[in-house]
Amino acid sequence: MLIKEIKELRSTIKSWKREGLSVGFVPTMGALHEGHQSLIKRAVEENDKVVVSVFVNPTQFGPNEDFDSYPRDINKDLEICLSAGANVVFNPEPSEMYYGDKSTSVSVSKLTDVLCGAKRPGHFDGVCLVVSKLLNIVTPDKAYFGEKDAQQVAVIKRMVRDLNIDVEIVACPIIREEDGLAKSSRNTYLSAEERKAALVLSRSLEIAKDTLKNGERDARKIKEFILNELNKEPLAKIDYVEIIDSDSLASVDIIERNILIPIAVFIGKTRLIDNFTFEIYTY
Ligand code: PAJ
Repeated sequence: MLIKEIKELRSTIKSWKREGLSVGFVPTMGALHEGHQSLIKRAVEENDKVVVSVFVNPTQFGPNEDFDSYPRDINKDLEICLSAGANVVFNPEPSEMYYGDKSTSVSVSKLTDVLCGAKRPGHFDGVCLVVSKLLNIVTPDKAYFGEKDAQQVAVIKRMVRDLNIDVEIVACPIIREEDGLAKSSRNTYLSAEERKAALVLSRSLEIAKDTLKNGERDARKIKEFILNELNKEPLAKIDYVEIIDSDSLASVDIIERNILIPIAVFIGKTRLIDNFTFEIYTY
């Protein structure tokens, strides 16, 4: 079922709750692919009812970013959601979500000073605002986010903790194309040549993974391996490569705890992100 109004969504969810049913929630911006589908399927497995939101959120895009050109196809998205087992797709207009004179902001500090937060000023304020609103509207038992956006997961978990929002945040693994490229709605922007070049992201992370498995613990050296590989690709322009603590997102010199290696790279005009988590005690 497609719902466009908050009022209708709330009354549907209230009727489920009166029956004692659990509610899972998957927030998205649409242009759905197997990455989103994996979140929806997990939500369907773990809850009685599942809501997917499809909303290209204007407040999380910078002035020179791709808000206008972001791919939109609600009919296709609806089909994907329903075939994955979702019960409701919530697809509000921006005017339904935001009052013209809105005066409230939601801002998570520290965790947003680095990585995409540093490179995309205001981005996480927009994400936190829309996700807190959506969580207030849907009031789910569990909400599902992809580890593809690792910083987003950390920021949302912190926001939910700090604001005592009564929801469990479930982080789901990155889904990739067969050749290793992390699935993303923005991959559709890539030309054939750029699509090949984009493999340099996952390839450079694989090299880092192998080096870590072989026992290297000097973060500077691991970073050098990644930068070296990325620099071999003429279409790639590095935005950031970091080696950080998985929880605090603070920079790490010697790898002694679980770490996250997030990277952001422009391939032509398209900015792609990827990451992997290295769990030290597994090796
Ligand atoms: P969007 O980019 O549409 O992503 C929606 C969810 O799908 C996010 O939690 C994202 O991490 C997850 N996802 C995307 N690609 C994935 C992949 N290859 N594997 C696993 N999960 C993947 O992230 C957003 O939208 C927005 O910021 C949102 C949270 C909806 C707020 O507007």
